[in-house]
Formats: sequence, C-alpha cells, structure tokens
Amino acid sequence: MSEPPPSRLPSDPAKALAALRKATDVCRECPIGWNATQSVFGEGPVGAVLMVVGEQPGDQEDLQGRPFVGPAGRLFDRAAEQLGWARERLYVTNAVKHFKFELRGKRRMHKTPAQREVAACLQWLESEIDQVRPQAFIALGGTAARALLGRPVAVMSERGRWHTGLRGLPVLVTLHPSALLRGDPAERESAYAQWLADLALAGKYLA
Ligand code: URA
Repeated sequence: MSEPPPSRLPSDPAKALAALRKATDVCRECPIGWNATQSVFGEGPVGAVLMVVGEQPGDQEDLQGRPFVGPAGRLFDRAAEQLGWARERLYVTNAVKHFKFELRGKRRMHKTPAQREVAACLQWLESEIDQVRPQAFIALGGTAARALLGRPVAVMSERGRWHTGLRGLPVLVTLHPSALLRGDPAERESAYAQWLADLALAGKYLA
C-alpha cells in the first residue's frame, strides 16, 4: 500500500515536517515498515544550513524513534563536538526511514536496504529537503550518497569532496560512522582522523 507525502501540507514548515513524520510512520511503499517499531524521521531545525544524511535507523534508533542515537550516532556526536558543531544546529536524517534487519536469535541485525527500498523512500527525503531548505548536505556512506547524488557512489574514491546533488545543492561525501566502528581496530584512530578531516570541510557552512 502506498502512502505518498500528504498533498496538502501545512504552510508552516515545522508543522509540515510533523505531518510528514506521521505519514512516514504508516508508509508501506516498501515492506520494511511492516517489521520496524516505528519510522525514524529527521530531527533538527527548519532552516538548518547543513543536512546530515545517514543510511537507515539502527536498532536503538528504531526503539527510540530518533536518528543517530546509537553507537554510530555517538561517534558522529563525538566528531561534531570536536569540530565545534552543535548538533541542534544540524538537521540529521536518513535516506530510509524504517529499520531493516534480520533476526539472529533474539538480535536484530542491520540489513542494508535494497536500492528499490531507498528509491521508494526518496520522496520523504525530498519532502524534508523542501521544508528544511538546507544549503548543503553531508552524505554519510554509500546509501546516503547514492540517494543524494542519484547515482552509485564509490565512497572511498569520492570521499572528502563536494559533489552536486538533489536540488542542485553541494553534497560532501564521507564514510558512514558504522564503517569506522567496524574497521580494523589498529587503524581506527587514523581512520577517525581522516573522517574528521572530511567532515571539517563542511564547517564553512556553520561558521
Ligand atoms: N545509522 C544510520 O545511518 N542512521 C541512524 O540513524 C543510525 C545508524
């Protein structure tokens, strides 16, 4: 069953975002929503200059209904703090609004969303962009980069650079924090430093 963005959104962007949030919760445009606890919509102020886009909510996000509150979110928060970015100034969201997982025993293991699922969810991301009106994006990982750039993205070769994406806006591509958490522990600190250097390029939008 499809649930497109409400065609008559309130003219107040904050109210429009609240209506969109409700609509994503019942969206069954793809099957992921059937198994998730709730949708996880973006968070942050209307008019945020930077929109940070991840892949999809994880286990914690699914339970709490908020983006980037689990381990990956904590790593992002650490980076933001080191860069002097107040998270409250950012609009933080995901390319996909429901948690896709497979059960291993009692554990819900993250499962990468299929491209058709990312495509089905794009309408919600576009609606958020139209209400928030950011000036630039940070794409955390390949799923977000592909959603924003409309093409497959080789994150390791395209990271740390600006590309042109949705609505003609600049997109900074970098790694997803989960990639750092999964990476070789011996290289974790240097990988983190490189990631921080990538992210720092977006600082000009917050100056
Ligand atoms: N990973 C994401 O991409 N988004 C979240 O909100 C949490 C983990």
